[in-house]
Formats: sequence, C-alpha cells, structure tokens
Amino acid sequence: MEYVDLYLVHWPMAVKPSKPHFPMKREDIVPLDLAGVWRAMEECHRLGLAKMIGVSNFTTKKLKELLATAKIPPAVNQVELNPSWQQQKLIEFCKDKGIHVTAYSPLGGQFGSTVLESKVLHEIAQARGKSVAQISLRWVYEQGASMVVKSWKQERLRENTEIFDWELSDEDRLKISQMPQHKVARVTGMLCPEGVSSVDIAEVDVLET
Ligand SMILES: NC(=O)c1ccc[n+]([C@@H]2O[C@H](COP(=O)([O-])OP(=O)(O)OC[C@H]3O[C@@H](n4cnc5c(N)ncnc54)[C@H](OP(=O)(O)O)[C@@H]3O)[C@@H](O)[C@H]2O)c1
Repeated sequence: MEYVDLYLVHWPMAVKPSKPHFPMKREDIVPLDLAGVWRAMEECHRLGLAKMIGVSNFTTKKLKELLATAKIPPAVNQVELNPSWQQQKLIEFCKDKGIHVTAYSPLGGQFGSTVLESKVLHEIAQARGKSVAQISLRWVYEQGASMVVKSWKQERLRENTEIFDWELSDEDRLKISQMPQHKVARVTGMLCPEGVSSVDIAEVDVLET
C-alpha cells in the first residue's frame, strides 16, 4: 500500500513505548505531546502517505487544543455516537469547525447494548416496520454523521444499509432525544484493574471531559 485514504489518531493519550498490550497500566500512561503528534500527522499528509488526516475519541476540549496549533485541521473525528450517547455539543462544535463526525459503535457496541435493548427504540421500530438497528443507524445518519457499523452476518450487513429511503418523524426524534445517556468506551475501560485506583479514575476522567 502506498498511501491510506484516511489516517486517525486513535485516542488523545500516550503510553510508554513497548509492545502493544491491552489493557494498559496507569503508570504506563505518559503526557501526550499533541502538537508534536499532529505535526507528524501533517507530515504524513505532506508526503502523500495519508490523503486525509483526522482524530478519534477527541472531546471539544481536545479539539480546541489541537486546532490552536494545527496547520491542517482534522478532516474527521471518529467517536462513540448512537441514541444512547448523543454527543450533541460535540456534533455542533465539529459542524462549526468543518470536521466530519464518524460514529463508532452506532448500535451501542458489542457488549450488552443499551441501544438494541432500548424500549423506546423497540416501540419506534415496531410502529415503522423497521428493525431497532435501522432506527439507530437512521438516527445517526440524520445527525450528519457517517458510521462504522460492524456485523459478521450477511443479512444484517444488508439490513444495516437499508436506511436511506425513509426518515424518522419529529415525534420519533423527540422520543430519541429524551433517552437516558450512557457512554460505553471509557478511558478507564482500557486500564487493567491493578493500574486503576480511585485517584487514577479521577485523573483519567479529565481526559474524557
Ligand atoms: N475509534 C475507536 O476508538 C473505536 C472504538 C470502538 C469501536 N470502533 C469501531 O467501530 C466499529 C463498530 O463498533 P462496534 O463493533 O463496537 O459496535 P456496533 O457496530 O455498534 O455493534 C456491533 C454489534 O451489533 C451487532 N449487530 C450488527 N448489526 C446488527 C443488526 N442489524 N441487528 C442486531 N445486531 C446487529 C453485531 O453482531 P453480529 O456481528 O453478530 O451481527 C455486534 O455484536 C468497529 O469496526 C470498531 O473497530 C472504533
């Protein structure tokens, strides 16, 4: 491969150089040189190795920090986004700055999804003759976001693309806007138990504001 279309900074955090290991220990997390990382990303773009460069899991706070020094703004911010984690403030901020939002876990992820189990979404799906997954993906699409939805099953892959020739009603949108919010991908979830104390949790949560 001579170039990639899009290259993302996966998380706004850094760990000590080592073999990739997961989960990580708190003591392995080091301060992130965000300006330096982004300069290297811009160099990848300048060399033609990445047609576009972007970020993932960046909050508005982290995007502001990045934009303060970036010569090339990120093209994309890939974040957790679904009816159970609606991110309206972040979406507005990205729209304002011309940063495209991509939704990951648009069905709420692989482990006990609060999206697929949502009573509200089930009611809307039943009334409209759609699946719960389609209601969720249509909602994501209506936010102006693209999405990376994952399935191993052929029939679901097809089902997940059949969301473009109909839309949610205002009443559906209102009901979805009132759903309880629950974030799945947290920084603490990437740390192994012995690396996390209550003080650490308070510190890493700062990364997520
Ligand atoms: N940038 C990041 O930090 C980040 C973090 C997390 C995930 N991601 C990426 O986001 C992508 C998707 O996220 P995800 O896998 O966490 O969550 P997801 O796409 O929201 O959910 C995947 C789960 O939903 C099931 N599913 C798919 N279509 C369905 C349907 N029509 N009806 C019912 N169930 C359905 C899948 O099961 P089956 O496979 O059995 O159909 C799987 O268990 C992945 O490619 C992943 O790499 C990125």
